Amino acid sequence: MDLSKLRVKGDRLRNTLEEMAKIGATPGGGVNRLALSDEDKQARNLFLSWLREINLEIMIDEVGNIFGRRSGKNNSLAPVLSGSHIDSQPKGGRFDGILGVLGALEVLRTIQENHLETLRPVMIVNWTNEEGTRFSPALAGSGVWAEKLDRDWIYARADIQGKKIGEELERIGYRGKQPAQKWPVHAYYELHIEQGPILEKEGKIIGIPAGIVSLHWFDVYVEGKSNQVGPTPMEGRNDALCAAAEMILKVNELPAKMGGNMVATVGEIHNFPNSRNIIPGRVHFTVDIRSWDDDLPGRAWAELKKDFEKIAKKRGCPLRIEETWSVKRVSFNERLVQRVKETAEKLGFPSLPMVSGAGQDAGYISQVAPTAMIFVPSIDGRSHVEVEETKWEDCTAGTNVLLHCILQSAMEE
Ligand code: GLV
Ligand code: MN
Ligand code: MN
Repeated sequence: MDLSKLRVKGDRLRNTLEEMAKIGATPGGGVNRLALSDEDKQARNLFLSWLREINLEIMIDEVGNIFGRRSGKNNSLAPVLSGSHIDSQPKGGRFDGILGVLGALEVLRTIQENHLETLRPVMIVNWTNEEGTRFSPALAGSGVWAEKLDRDWIYARADIQGKKIGEELERIGYRGKQPAQKWPVHAYYELHIEQGPILEKEGKIIGIPAGIVSLHWFDVYVEGKSNQVGPTPMEGRNDALCAAAEMILKVNELPAKMGGNMVATVGEIHNFPNSRNIIPGRVHFTVDIRSWDDDLPGRAWAELKKDFEKIAKKRGCPLRIEETWSVKRVSFNERLVQRVKETAEKLGFPSLPMVSGAGQDAGYISQVAPTAMIFVPSIDGRSHVEVEETKWEDCTAGTNVLLHCILQSAMEE
């Protein structure tokens, strides 16, 4: 068979993505499949049934990462691995993460129905809690597997209700037996939507990230003094929400103040007790700082901390800061990045080199195995929202690039 003519089935990929999008479907056309929720469990069960249909050997590790393996001619050789994540943001989209999982499934279905014998085993993966929205940090499953995050620390991370990752894995039946530890991988490919506007703007179909920006997460706790809003004079108040409001604006102003390539965001805030007639006594908010430059966020954070302390002092609202998580910028494997580029070219898709502004499981994996990613355009550059969209033909294009990258790696000695 002339392998260069082989293509995935776009209709099947679309049907599979649409079937999966029913789980946790939101009225606005997105999905709500928070990590280790009932919806995540249901989606994992469906995913497993699809892996069984093509007779993959299934492994579930201690942090709930799901692997499916198709044998090669020489099973002593390290496998080629591909996948992404099933979990979503609250009111997230139907493509973030899941395209990389079901794209890899479509590749395996294509390989299987054509009875192809690869030299190396080919494996698919769903990494646990990529999003980091219900439980921080993000990239938890891939981080533990790559031995960059401690398993027991991850087990103990709690959501806003105090439910822990370890307990929730147990509850949904996905705390597996396999040690969550890296093993040799010959090549890791992750297909993903771009989640930004560049490919669309440039009229390109395939994005080829050279790497991923550095990411820094902080949790800030501001302590004020609650009181009745009516009888309490304005002078002398210790209003935790007003202090937080001033701090949040400092976060927003930070990139312009520092110059260089950086973004900074407060996306989550909890105000206590959150009553219209009580002066806020406590606020918890998050800070997310990202940059392609590794040094800039550290300098920016030092500035920001000084500003926070000044505001806390001025308003009499003491501050506690948790430096929750940080990952350095990563560069992908040049040989695999080049392969993605050449494959896109061979298949006739215009491509563009870029970097990923989103965190990706590929970030941790690239620290322990040769890694590359394949991006496809996001309509209007929208992501982490219900209206997140990618054209079906672009999903198919990205999956065809994935197919041919996987096949080349899987045939390598
Ligand atoms: C993950 O989706 C992130 O970029 O935060
Ligand atoms: Mn993602
Ligand atoms: Mn995401």
